[in-house]
Amino acid sequence: MTTEVQEKKVDVRNGILAGKKGVILGIANKWSIAWGIANSLKEAGAELTFTYQERLKDRVDKLAEELDVKNTVECDVTSDEQITNAFKTISDLYNGKIDFVIHSLAFAKKDELEGRYVDTSRDGYILAQDISAFSLAAVAKAAEPLFEANGGGSIITLTYLGGERVVKNYNVMGVAKAALECSVKYLANDLGPKKIRVNAISAGPIKTLASSAISGIQTMISQIADVSPLRKNTETEEVGDTALFLASDLSRGITGELIHVDAGFHILGATN
Ligand SMILES: NC(=O)c1ccc[n+]([C@@H]2O[C@H](COP(=O)([O-])OP(=O)(O)OC[C@H]3O[C@@H](n4cnc5c(N)ncnc54)[C@H](O)[C@@H]3O)[C@@H](O)[C@H]2O)c1
Repeated sequence: MTTEVQEKKVDVRNGILAGKKGVILGIANKWSIAWGIANSLKEAGAELTFTYQERLKDRVDKLAEELDVKNTVECDVTSDEQITNAFKTISDLYNGKIDFVIHSLAFAKKDELEGRYVDTSRDGYILAQDISAFSLAAVAKAAEPLFEANGGGSIITLTYLGGERVVKNYNVMGVAKAALECSVKYLANDLGPKKIRVNAISAGPIKTLASSAISGIQTMISQIADVSPLRKNTETEEVGDTALFLASDLSRGITGELIHVDAGFHILGATN
């Protein structure tokens, strides 16, 4: 990509989110989709707070510093108490008002991400649903008063095609993503009267810490580069810019929507 094109892209982002404040859940490292989103939103002028799981605190603090993000807050979504406390802290930081929440997190046991879905364990199923799907509703509820005081806002979550169709080895996470995508619609309907929009981005496969737990992910990534309509893989920067659009007023008429950012792969009926 030429410098000229790169500069143009940055220009396009400039100022779109000036004065907007929000929270990003799900940064683990520089490969995280949430990190790509953080970069886009920051370049667009947003003020950000990152949340982290305790074991990732040092890493997330370092990344926050790099992007000149002042605040990081602990939030493990398996704990109601941590969600409540995190949003209490965020409320104090931003005078009780926020414009957006980015929910970019999921978890399933590695041994549930290979073989047959029919062999999924009860506790593996519950864990995947709790962290990857229920957490969106829990976070939306905690954020609701901050959005309401703001006169509305935008919630964005991350999903994958395996929630709509069978993708080898995605198994229990596919079922969790289906629940997440349906949750987006129910939340959009509940919160719409308060001008709180809820949307999902369905990203194409990207090599990250979470995706490396899925058996065969690398092969899938290289196949997609060959067959997707755009003949490429998805980049976190592309997901970041779509999140920017969904967090901004440019998308004010959109809620309950699922936007695929996957080089067009989802439209294919067959890949040969
Ligand atoms: N990488 C891909 O191919 C891909 C494609 C489509 C969608 N997604 C989705 O994007 C989102 C981000 O994943 P990623 O690929 O960037 O991986 P990642 O490993 O960088 O991020 C996953 C994040 O989930 C967080 N997390 C896990 N359990 C948590 C808990 N109990 N409480 C709070 N946070 C918790 C981790 O701390 C981590 O920051 C996930 O929802 C994932 O399913 C990923």
